[in-house]
Amino acid sequence: MAHEYDVVIIGGGTGGYVAAIRASQLGLKTAIVEKEALGGTCLHKGCIPSKALLRSAEVFRTVKRSEEFGIEAEKAILNFNKVQQRKAGVVDRLYKGVQQLIKKGKIDVYDGFGRILGPSIFSPLPGTVSVEMSDGSENEMLVPKNVIIATGSRTKSLPGLDIDDTYIITSDEALEMERLPSSMIIIGGGVIGIEWASMLADFGVEVTILEYAEQLLAAEDQEIAKELERLLKKKNINVVTKAKVQPETCLKGDGMVKISAVADGQIKEFAAEKILVAVGRDPNSNNIGLQNTDIELDNGFIKVNEYYQTKESHIYAIGDVIGGLQLAHAASHEGVKAVEHIAGQDPSPITYDHVPKCIYSTPEIASVGLTEYQAKEKGFKVKTGKFPFQAIGKALIFGDDDGFVKIVSDADTNDILGVHMIGPNVTDLISEAGLARVLDATPWEISHTVHPHPSLGEVMGEAALAVDGRAIHI
Ligand code: NAI
Repeated sequence: MAHEYDVVIIGGGTGGYVAAIRASQLGLKTAIVEKEALGGTCLHKGCIPSKALLRSAEVFRTVKRSEEFGIEAEKAILNFNKVQQRKAGVVDRLYKGVQQLIKKGKIDVYDGFGRILGPSIFSPLPGTVSVEMSDGSENEMLVPKNVIIATGSRTKSLPGLDIDDTYIITSDEALEMERLPSSMIIIGGGVIGIEWASMLADFGVEVTILEYAEQLLAAEDQEIAKELERLLKKKNINVVTKAKVQPETCLKGDGMVKISAVADGQIKEFAAEKILVAVGRDPNSNNIGLQNTDIELDNGFIKVNEYYQTKESHIYAIGDVIGGLQLAHAASHEGVKAVEHIAGQDPSPITYDHVPKCIYSTPEIASVGLTEYQAKEKGFKVKTGKFPFQAIGKALIFGDDDGFVKIVSDADTNDILGVHMIGPNVTDLISEAGLARVLDATPWEISHTVHPHPSLGEVMGEAALAVDGRAIHI
């Protein structure tokens, strides 16, 4: 039987389910097709479970240094089983919440795998969605006026390094570990690699990062990456940059895995209980029927315009499957814009330079806009202001005063071009910088904003003053 909809969304992750809720608010008859669980990668295999583990690691680290705060606790003992249970509990509560929201929005959910059909008896246009139902029942046919593809991305490995769930894993398997290894090699010093390195080191695991590029977190400001490397080394993490890993040298057995990499012109061998591969994610654009449409791909990512329309103007795509920032909060905003466009509204396109990027390691890292290097490359005459957490009272009270905030601004117009942070709670502090970018604020406006004392937020006010050499506490 065919079911008619205004919008069918393939994929119920953060991008897809938020788009569905907005569609329902706008009175559109909406369905989601989801092959696993509503909430997708972010809720079940990404942001939420990894941040829950990171939080436990941070608590463990804090308890171990409790004497610094005058608290004499018994020896801190890690019960990883309970850590995993807590993580599952957090995911479960949020999962129930998402299900509730979908129910409240009267959104139909089809549990199965959706594929887009070409022109058929159901419609002269491509876009009918055939759902292969997870329970094995007959395929459902959905005939929508509009489709949103929100199928996300999946982990990948390096050629020649197969994921075996024992010696070689990705973040998917790492999240489900029942026991912590004593040592881990992490291939890739990007976002996932850094978060896992920080977490595992705080849990007491011996960690080596092998990163191909010259710096960790290639997309971040060079000074931030340098400070991160220094602080990770302080945590006894072995950081090797410019490392050319040689998958063919991988040897597994007796509970250990070995691999070589060329670094500093020499072949070096590394050994650990496990290797975590974190070298980026592939888009889920295969096997969903795109060959039945005129939709264009770029390296597997679906090409879209500023309203997220594909070459087939009634088929939209959002989130990781279109590439770009591959962040949950970008995906959900994209979903809202796509739906508002479907509903005939005139949504203002997203300015990606205004979207904050956050890394939840200890230290945390957050940024918005251009790095100093990118700004110079674009031809801006740049001036910067930098302020360390060491001169912020609340950071000392916190007992966490590593890191700094750096503001990159245009020397001609005074506009803020980028804000880069490393240190305590910066994943929360970055929102002020995001708002500043949206409002096109200058450092003067940030410094004119009264920041409460004592607060970590004072670092923004001081960094803004530092742009013009006016910082007070340094
Ligand atoms: P990534 O693109 O951030 O980093 C991959 C790293 O691996 C790069 O630094 C790259 O130079 C390195 N690399 C590639 N090939 C290599 C090789 N052969 N040997 C050594 N190093 C190699 O990708 P990642 O960390 O896997 O994350 C995937 C996506 O998930 C990202 O786009 C990220 O935005 C998203 N994500 C976001 C999070 C957040 O916002 N906090 C958390 C986790 C993931």
